[in-house]
Amino acid sequence: MIRRQTVLITGGSGFIGTNLVRLLVQSGEYRVVNLDALTYAANPLSLADLDGNQNYVFVKGNIMDRELVSSLFTKYEPVGLFHLAAESHVDRSIVNAEDFIQTNVVGTYSMLEAARAYWNALPVERKSTFRFLHVSTDEVFGSLGEEGYFSEVTSYAPNSPYAASKAASDHFVRAFHHTYGLPTVITNCSNNYGPYQFPEKMIPLMILNALSGKPLPVYGNGSNVRDWIYVEDHCGAVKLAFEKGKLGEAYAIGANNEQKNINLVNQICSILDDIAPPVEIPQLRERGLKSYSELIRFVADRPGHDRRYAIDSAKVTRQLGWQAEVGFEAGLRRTIEWYLSNPKWVEHASSGSYEDWIEKNYAWREERVEKESK
Ligand code: NAD
Ligand code: DAU
Repeated sequence: MIRRQTVLITGGSGFIGTNLVRLLVQSGEYRVVNLDALTYAANPLSLADLDGNQNYVFVKGNIMDRELVSSLFTKYEPVGLFHLAAESHVDRSIVNAEDFIQTNVVGTYSMLEAARAYWNALPVERKSTFRFLHVSTDEVFGSLGEEGYFSEVTSYAPNSPYAASKAASDHFVRAFHHTYGLPTVITNCSNNYGPYQFPEKMIPLMILNALSGKPLPVYGNGSNVRDWIYVEDHCGAVKLAFEKGKLGEAYAIGANNEQKNINLVNQICSILDDIAPPVEIPQLRERGLKSYSELIRFVADRPGHDRRYAIDSAKVTRQLGWQAEVGFEAGLRRTIEWYLSNPKWVEHASSGSYEDWIEKNYAWREERVEKESK
């Protein structure tokens, strides 16, 4: 029997973290220690199936708590770290960037220092195999016009406070490799979708709003483009980058799947029309709703809204042999079915401060569009 290696993951109770923890534990190769502060974006139900699993340890705590992080390194002696913990929603960073600077910049710096102290003290053979895998985003590269792709050689040009905080964290990771030799690898991925995504993000927000007959708020004229990847494909690439990525390098990850926002919302509506027709939902039938697309509303745009993201993932394919496996139509259907089948998870995610956020982010947009159209 192969002995499992222990890895530390931060932010393992969020959207991508949940999918990554499950992939690592189910691979049979790893025991996972998940450090997560359980902010609003985490859902304790997401990993409930791993409760009691001897290959999964949950630790509630903040990545900025250096003493705690150092004690986890000492106690569990991980062979490496997957760093995902972050504030991740662009619109929230526009309202208030403070938490983004704290967690994404200061928190990443703190993780780097704790990892460096642990790594420095490792015996030579373990030192050479240790990895600090930093999960980042394509938003650090800014915005594309009609043509071109982001890749590992694209210059950084972050436009939102969120993107700026992730860019800063990438720079610190790079600097810790260059200056101290810390064995780091960075991944810069495009928009993820799939199960367990908090419904402040576009795809789950549209699914859940549609099912409860609420407006589907499309920013601007809906022509902004995002390059969507199924979350399990992203997690597969992150695992490979951890295991085989070249030290000090970055990997751009995407599934070659550009979608205009308005087309994507229409696709969600059409799948929902098929699997949960409004005529079969009493309160929607009473309102005479025939298709979910009738709920689409164009609302005031996101300030500084990046126009287009698209990834050239040739390097990760060439060097690591990675390729996306899930087609968009199948992945979107699977995602919608997952939200329909998990009402308890949805209820937990949409309770607490969620309604306050929805009010804060959408009330002014609708008012502004109404005023503009008068
Ligand atoms: P998420 O918001 O769903 O989850 C973030 C997790 O981090 C939550 O569980 C939260 O509790 C935890 N967390 C936040 N602050 C913390 C702190 N100070 N200490 C400990 N834990 C903390 O985010 P996600 O969408 O899963 O993204 C995960 C990572 O992947 C982020 O670094 C993000 O920048 C990056 N990323 C996301 C996407 C995407 O499309 N979602 C794409 C590319 C990269
Ligand atoms: O590209 C990777 C990034 O993708 C990650 O780094 C971020 O963590 C993740 O949140 C995501 O950022 P986006 O801003 O692209 O994702 P979001 O789901 O918020 O929005 C997707 C697109 O949909 C974007 O063009 C804005 C638009 N949108 C979003 C919301 C929430 C709407 O039109 N209406 C909405 O209500």
